[in-house]
Amino acid sequence: MATTRRPLIAGNWKMNLDHLQSIAFVQKLAWALKDKKFHEQEVEVTVFPPFTDLRSVQTLINADNLPVGLGAQDLSPHDEGAHTGDIPGVFLKALDCSYVVVGHSERRADHHEDDSHVAAKVVAALRHGLIPIVCVGETSEDLERYGASKIPVDQLAAVLAEIPQGSEFVVAYEPVWAIGSGQAATPDQAEDVCKALRETIREHHGDEAADSTRVLYGGSVKSTNIAGFMKRDNIDGALVGGASLDVDEFVAIARFPHHVSLD
Ligand code: 13P
Repeated sequence: MATTRRPLIAGNWKMNLDHLQSIAFVQKLAWALKDKKFHEQEVEVTVFPPFTDLRSVQTLINADNLPVGLGAQDLSPHDEGAHTGDIPGVFLKALDCSYVVVGHSERRADHHEDDSHVAAKVVAALRHGLIPIVCVGETSEDLERYGASKIPVDQLAAVLAEIPQGSEFVVAYEPVWAIGSGQAATPDQAEDVCKALRETIREHHGDEAADSTRVLYGGSVKSTNIAGFMKRDNIDGALVGGASLDVDEFVAIARFPHHVSLD
């Protein structure tokens, strides 16, 4: 991990915790971070609750000035109008969301989101001042057929072609076979693909973007394997699913600098 990029530990709650549970969870999280002397200057921690929780979590974070950021799990490519069930970026911005996850493999699979749809959502996020976390990753069939990098690189290139130079975004490499399987990629595997993704940014948006953009790894990240990822040059944080629903485990992940030597 390059020291100039502030690490991001992002908790994607997926379809878990209703708005009441979200309040109890974030209160516990804030206490645990304080108790463990977590430094927000060192590591950025952000949670991604379901849409129905966002207002409750926003209120809590703002009222107590908690060291926890807020993001949404998806957004509409449109800004308003006849799109039943969709949520536009402008509503997320009004709830103080800083980030939005775009193109998660579960949305690509469940809602048939293709690269051009994902790119349109990234453009919509940027239009509203949200930082998109662009998710890319190969399935086990892709891995066998094309190797690890080709599909994630193609997915990222499709987005980079549609957004202006200088846009701020985050990339999350999440191999589909590693999500929820308990079988994380090895740090070497993850580093290889994250490096290829950074070079793709360099090719499309230049050196400054390549050197400043954070590239995360996601897929069965736990407190016991985070250090291995964070030691690598091109991995700047993690997108955490299951382990982000356990306060102690999530805090232990966020405190990785205390159990990893970064030199
Ligand atoms: P798990 O950490 O549960 O494998 O999920 C990863 C993920 O999909 C985060 O977006």
